[in-house]
Amino acid sequence: MSEIVKFLATVLYYVEKKNFPLAVAFKRAYLYNKPRKIDSNLLYDYSKRLILSYYALPQGKRSFKVRYWLENKENIEIKFPNWMEEKLSTLLDINALKGKLKERCVWARINLLKTDIDKIYRELEGKNIEFESDKDFYYMIKIKKSSVRLSSLSIVKDCKLIIHDKGSSLVVEALKPEIGEKVVDLSSAPGIKASLYMMLTENRAEIFLADVDFKRLLKEYSLLKRCGVDLSKIHIIYQDSTKNSVIRSDKILLDAPCSSSGMINNDPSILLKLWDNEKIERFAKLQKSLLSESLKITANKLVYAVCSLFPEEGEKVIEDYYEIAEKPFSNYQSGYSLFKVGEKSNRTFPHTDSTEGFFISTLNLTKL
Ligand SMILES: C[S@@+](CC[C@H](N)C(=O)[O-])C[C@H]1O[C@@H](n2cnc3c(N)ncnc32)[C@H](O)[C@@H]1O
Repeated sequence: MSEIVKFLATVLYYVEKKNFPLAVAFKRAYLYNKPRKIDSNLLYDYSKRLILSYYALPQGKRSFKVRYWLENKENIEIKFPNWMEEKLSTLLDINALKGKLKERCVWARINLLKTDIDKIYRELEGKNIEFESDKDFYYMIKIKKSSVRLSSLSIVKDCKLIIHDKGSSLVVEALKPEIGEKVVDLSSAPGIKASLYMMLTENRAEIFLADVDFKRLLKEYSLLKRCGVDLSKIHIIYQDSTKNSVIRSDKILLDAPCSSSGMINNDPSILLKLWDNEKIERFAKLQKSLLSESLKITANKLVYAVCSLFPEEGEKVIEDYYEIAEKPFSNYQSGYSLFKVGEKSNRTFPHTDSTEGFFISTLNLTKL
């Protein structure tokens, strides 16, 4: 078996059998099976495209599937599970979406709690990393080309530059962070949005961070520490937020657990977990339960967000709250027009915004 076939079959094994995200599968395969003389960027690109075409591959052994893909890679289509293709084609330009998925789009945040913009620009320029600053958020940059692995950079290891999608910044900006306020984040781990919130308030907000997963909470605490967040302003709450214990806050963030279908541009292995619609229905039930529980908190504003392409997890979760829903950003497209509440929400997409696919809506709780 050629080295490259062996490598890609190993990636496929980790994704298919171990349910690893693509980045983890790639790292593992690279550790044990690194092909000589093949650029790692090209290998990653091949791995990503192979997984994106998973549903178009013939039946057979993994090495057979990989050979088939290598021989046909210029013509083979990106394919979603059938039910997903049918559903999405009524909602968005599915070919435009697929066309964009092949591209790599990496966003990063300059962590102003630990560094400043000029220092990071100089550091990236010194390493010949091509990037552009974002038009909306001065602290976000889009990495255009890099010959070094970003995770190997000391500025990334030190959390001075944090790799995360611009969609996450939109979710936090929708809350309009203000110094001195109290915020509760009902499903907060691993803490990317919480750390941005604290950055935007210069560590001068107080934030209650809940999550049902204890291990993820531990990781969150450690991430916040490394990001330079003032830990005396952080309150960690280990709870199932469908049985919430927080009574009062200024603002609420419900960045709900979801199918992560909006992340397939960064992690196509998610496609392998979306074999039927049932999973989406289960998430929708949990999201509705989390939302109705969070509305028992006395607060002024709630931002509901999911990284999902499906209306069941977005528009349909908030449609009962049409009267108090507000569209967070006028310069971003609305939610799906098939739903009335679409006009009171935003959706971002890989093919229109070069971001992950987020659904975001604000609920004005003063109108309740
Ligand atoms: C989309 S992630 C949150 C990402 C996070 N806001 C950030 O920016 O890093 C969803 C989180 O919801 C948590 N979760 C799932 N079910 C929950 C529940 N019933 N109550 C509280 N948290 C829950 C998961 O453990 C997961 O950490």
